[in-house]
Amino acid sequence: MTRFIVTENYEKMSEKAALIILQQINKKDNSLLGLATGSTPVGTYENLISWNQNGLIDFSAVKTVSLDEYMGVEETNEQSYRWFMNENFFNQINIKIENTHIPKGMAEDIDAECKEYERRIQLLGGIDLQLLGIGENGHIGFNEPTSFFEKHTHAVALKESTRKANSRFFGSVKSVPTHAITMGIGVIMSSKRIVLVVNGEHKAEALYKSFFENVDPMFQASILQYHQDVTVVADHDAMKVIYDKKVAFNDLISL
Ligand code: GLP
Repeated sequence: MTRFIVTENYEKMSEKAALIILQQINKKDNSLLGLATGSTPVGTYENLISWNQNGLIDFSAVKTVSLDEYMGVEETNEQSYRWFMNENFFNQINIKIENTHIPKGMAEDIDAECKEYERRIQLLGGIDLQLLGIGENGHIGFNEPTSFFEKHTHAVALKESTRKANSRFFGSVKSVPTHAITMGIGVIMSSKRIVLVVNGEHKAEALYKSFFENVDPMFQASILQYHQDVTVVADHDAMKVIYDKKVAFNDLISL
């Protein structure tokens, strides 16, 4: 089932998504959180950081697994997702850094790293809550449009459009890595709960296609329609196409 929570703006979207994570950790203090990189979840992390610093949320028993990492980028490089997560979240909360897991994009044997990463997720008891963003081409993690849904964690060649979209972090498209490791769709779908954060009109088409068109591997996020517990937290701008098409909702909560 998909539930929509529509908010006025990015700030409210971020606060709402953070609240859902807060509730999850209050319910289970050693939750395994699946985390996303990208601009969208930054505000969610900022709320969690401020609540943590004010003693409202405790990350000391929380464990995390990240969706993806660029290949060929050192962890200490500012462009790595490890660096991004440390900087934007982990270094500012009371999480134990050894409880934070991110695929190793510099691993010598990438296939072995993918298998080991997935085994670790299983050993940690599976993902309780997976936070997701979405690419304009429908990618979740770095599961790019293709003819099938890849089950397992794997190496992927990034689409030109994705490299272009992410070039804002690198200065030029040329500098964006060509490959990444990503959790597979099967891994994402095995999360007990999924929270998808989406903001801005540039994501409106993607949001519409994900939930109101046929499930199609050329638009990977559409698989989320088959998950039993998805909460979409979207701002009004991201809802534009859904509003324009006047689709009927069964379960729309507007805040
Ligand atoms: C990136 C990440 C995804 C992210 C998406 C959207 O390439 N691999 O995990 O959800 O693209 O990013 P943003 O939130 O910056 O729009």
